[in-house]
Amino acid sequence: MDLKTRLEQLRRENQKRIKDTNDLDALNQIRVNLLGKKGPITEVLRGMKDLKPEERPKVGAYANEIKADLQENLQNRKDALEQAALTAKLATETIDVTLPGDQVVQGTPHIIDQIMDDIEEFFIGQGYQVVDGPEVEEDHYNFEMMNIPKDHPARDMQDTFYIDDQLLMRSQTSPVQARTLEVHDFSKGPLKMISPGRVYRRDTDDATHSHQFNQIEGLVIDKHITMADLKGTLLALAQHVFGKDRQIRLRPSYFPFTEPSVEVDVSCFRCNGKGCAICKYSGWIEVLGAGMVHPNVLTNAGVDADVYGGFAFGLGPDRFAMLKYGIDDIRSFYQGDVRFLSQFKEEG
Ligand code: DAH
Repeated sequence: MDLKTRLEQLRRENQKRIKDTNDLDALNQIRVNLLGKKGPITEVLRGMKDLKPEERPKVGAYANEIKADLQENLQNRKDALEQAALTAKLATETIDVTLPGDQVVQGTPHIIDQIMDDIEEFFIGQGYQVVDGPEVEEDHYNFEMMNIPKDHPARDMQDTFYIDDQLLMRSQTSPVQARTLEVHDFSKGPLKMISPGRVYRRDTDDATHSHQFNQIEGLVIDKHITMADLKGTLLALAQHVFGKDRQIRLRPSYFPFTEPSVEVDVSCFRCNGKGCAICKYSGWIEVLGAGMVHPNVLTNAGVDADVYGGFAFGLGPDRFAMLKYGIDDIRSFYQGDVRFLSQFKEEG
């Protein structure tokens, strides 16, 4: 076979092979075999030394033409295969934006947190500061500073979890009053604070008792605070939480850290005071304890009780939530049952 025919044959064979290849690795292999040093084209070129000198340029030119031709074939096929691979890859990676998404369940703050946040915002709006206190508290702050000495019968009002002689789980948020009074600088202005948080009592859990619940303590101390200030503040709070038509009444009571002390009732938001099951047909619902701060509490904290005085109150957000939403079992707040909790979607 002369070289020209051999070249023709190489062109035909390889064009077909290239066209039939569907895989980039195989195509590369063809390229290496065809154009490499030991490949058939190199072999043909090597054979030219046996040709007559006048034949050589023609065959050489022809060989180069075929080589270029096949290189172009290889490149085109490579481009086509790469394009096909890309198209296939894109097809598998397509995102169908019309598919329905996974449903993400939207949570909601716990109902007690919602009530606490709402009451906090109410007081912040009136210029109060929000103060935190420790839940593991000293007997000193929880009781003694609050005018409840050791062996005082008032300790029986709050069955307490003691950790040792000095430490306990706070049974009320009132100790935050003492802690704040100790550090407040009255030369800079009056003290207006609330302190929300968890408290603990050695109660047996049932529908109306929990060994753990929440309180919000309030304290206002300045030079000329009267009981009218207390009443106005609590009336505004009651109307904010239970509706603008609410009234409040104060009944005499006893707390060691206030004198006089009062129990505060709000007019029933269900029957508007006419009498119903919620208010036990009295028209009033007891919502919190309050009073004028006992001079001993101020003196204990180093505040001059002849100059300064004020009011304090303590309320239970759990009780507020139970009243507001007609919840009859306090344990529902602590059992984490999503069916119960998810009823209280936050508005807005
Ligand atoms: N600490 C009281 C309790 O846990 C609640 C209370 C009543 C707080 C009257 C006060 C107050 O600040 O003035 O029962």
